[in-house]
Amino acid sequence: DPLIIAIDGPSGTGKSSVSKTVATRLGISYLDTGAMYRALAWSCVASAIDLDDSAAVSAHAQTFDLRMGMDPAAPSVGVGDRRIDREIREDAVTSVVSRVATNLDVRANMKQRQRDLIAEGCAATGGCVAEGRDITTVVAPDAAVRILMTASEDARMQRRSRQLRVATEATRSQIVDRDRTDSTVSQFTTAADGVVTIDTSDIDFAQSVDAVLHVVKE
Ligand code: CDP
Repeated sequence: DPLIIAIDGPSGTGKSSVSKTVATRLGISYLDTGAMYRALAWSCVASAIDLDDSAAVSAHAQTFDLRMGMDPAAPSVGVGDRRIDREIREDAVTSVVSRVATNLDVRANMKQRQRDLIAEGCAATGGCVAEGRDITTVVAPDAAVRILMTASEDARMQRRSRQLRVATEATRSQIVDRDRTDSTVSQFTTAADGVVTIDTSDIDFAQSVDAVLHVVKE
């Protein structure tokens, strides 16, 4: 059986970097589902689609040519031939991504794309680490390993502001707002049945990786 590892959690828990390292260590594929929503937001903005026009946004979600590279050592995101790895991390995208991610037609389309990509990743390498907000509950509820990564708000804000090199208070309000919006459509603050919680507030990166690998071995 292919090894599917589903990891959910809010921002600043170390979820992305830990997921990538776990996938590298196990020699399996890696799927960043947040990058998919970010790519859609970027593509809507690039195509001058009004983000308040939910029908136009969901129509664009059905047709845009999203290309995800799932090598954990060099994951990539593109739309058509254009690589947008850097663009999707910019504030212009971060500040609007929740607006496309709360569109339920968009989520249905993304779920299908994510399931197809996980299957493709498994076919290529024998497994896949998929991380996001609704992987343990909606996208891959049957995954062999399901983990919720949490951390105290202070720990999350400190990590995120170090990553972005901006003041903690500005980051805090932006992230709190985004979490509040995101949690209207996916449940990522408490673990669903059968999901193992890893709290990274007081452990470092290496310990977080080990904690995930420990759950995988069980
Ligand atoms: O920057 P951060 O790690 O917090 O977020 P991300 O994982 O890059 O996800 C960006 C945005 O995509 C989130 O704020 C959600 O709006 C959306 N998302 C989602 O709705 N469902 C997922 N499975 C993953 C991300």
